[in-house]
Amino acid sequence: MSQAKSENIPPQNTAQGENVVTVNYNGKSSVFPVLKGSMGDHVVDIRNLKKNLDLFTFDPGLGGTASCESKITYIDGDKGVLLYRGYPIAQLAEQSNFAEVSYLLLYGNLPTRQEYEVFVDRLNEHALLHEQIRNFFNGFRRDAHPMSILCGTVAGLSAFYPEGTDISNEASRDRSAINLIAKIPTLAAWAYKYSLGEPFVYPRSDYSYTENFLNMMFARPTEPYKVNPILSRALDRIFILHADHEQNASTSTVRLAGSTGAHPFACIAAGIAALWGPAHGGANEAVLKMLNAIGRKENIPSFIEKVKDKNSEVRLMGFGHRVYKNFDPRAQIMQSTCYEVLRELGVKKEPLLELAVELEERALKDDYFVERKLYPNVDFYSGIIFKAMGIPTSMFTVLFAVARTVGWVSQWKEAFDDPLRRIYRPRQHYTGPVERNMKTSYWL
Ligand code: ACO
Repeated sequence: MSQAKSENIPPQNTAQGENVVTVNYNGKSSVFPVLKGSMGDHVVDIRNLKKNLDLFTFDPGLGGTASCESKITYIDGDKGVLLYRGYPIAQLAEQSNFAEVSYLLLYGNLPTRQEYEVFVDRLNEHALLHEQIRNFFNGFRRDAHPMSILCGTVAGLSAFYPEGTDISNEASRDRSAINLIAKIPTLAAWAYKYSLGEPFVYPRSDYSYTENFLNMMFARPTEPYKVNPILSRALDRIFILHADHEQNASTSTVRLAGSTGAHPFACIAAGIAALWGPAHGGANEAVLKMLNAIGRKENIPSFIEKVKDKNSEVRLMGFGHRVYKNFDPRAQIMQSTCYEVLRELGVKKEPLLELAVELEERALKDDYFVERKLYPNVDFYSGIIFKAMGIPTSMFTVLFAVARTVGWVSQWKEAFDDPLRRIYRPRQHYTGPVERNMKTSYWL
């Protein structure tokens, strides 16, 4: 077969001319169209591979697979580009705020002033939790990891919003999205308060999204608390940097759970669970633990040797990325935010920052990291900022979850509007035993 035409593929997606990949296998030949996105790499549409050639693709970790079509976030890992709905991350971090970026991710365009105000009002209105949700917290040990509390309470929240299962209803999907973005900061801050044994602080409508979060985290009934505008702005920027990152592990988890038609709150709880791991959102917590373990600059060379030793399983946390192979644009903004926060807090000398800077410099000069294109990622500096703000290490990944919720719900919503939507059901490369017969069991 030599026609640039593929069976069963919608004609509007079918590439013409040379934009095909021909696969010859087992005496058969089949042509697969190459689809062009609006930017970036092209993709081979292999949906008919099994049908035409009785083959599946094998791609552990899915690093070479586009699992869906999306219009939300674009990354060029070689050039260090990150765009939300076409806007460069640096512009958004500098000129926007988290609520506006959330609107952009969720609805596709920056809001008008009126749309923005309505959106912020909706977030404020829904930040309050059902009073009975307070009881959830009492079921947890005081020393429970706040990610386990967040995961559990977000999933539990689905019981209060049974209409969320009506996913075929667009208005219901939108309500779920707003509820999640609005309520997760309250749950996150309460998880922290619970660990301290302090009273929960209720959300307030006169604060911005991030001011409100800081107030719920740090206000106490015994003394006045004033949100520091510089710190609030810095945290807001960190939230923007973490808001979405196309089909990463947690977002793919949310899409996968969502593809079954599960309740959106349960899907986001699944995303929170996936984010928790140290290879993903747990990296910021792991970076701080790593820096503390290194302790002093003199120990950096031996630590780097350990990282390079393939038998040690030690990784340089906050370094490396599946997609960025040049630099992570978020890491650069994070580093300058780190200096800004420390300056505001009057921290002249932060040993962990000095250690991190030295570690980064040495790693970037080392052939091991250069050859593998390993650069600092968004999490390398975020932990130092959080620590300076007085946020405990166990809360770092929780803050990431607060910020990423809008990305998750935007991707979850987009999946429902996709005419190609199907349940996620990958196949496998089976290498287990071939079919065999049982002998009579010994207990018979
Ligand atoms: N330290 C040391 N070596 C590393 C590191 C690291 N941080 N990251 C990758 N490598 C090495 C691997 O050992 C491998 O070497 P090899 O070719 O000799 O076997 C090579 O670089 C390629 O690594 P992979 O594991 O194939 O890269 P992958 O894309 O699967 O992993 C990941 C990406 C998980 C982010 C990885 O770089 C890592 O574990 N980094 C540390 C954890 C971290 O910072 N995670 C946060 C990511 S950003 C985010 O989720 C917000």
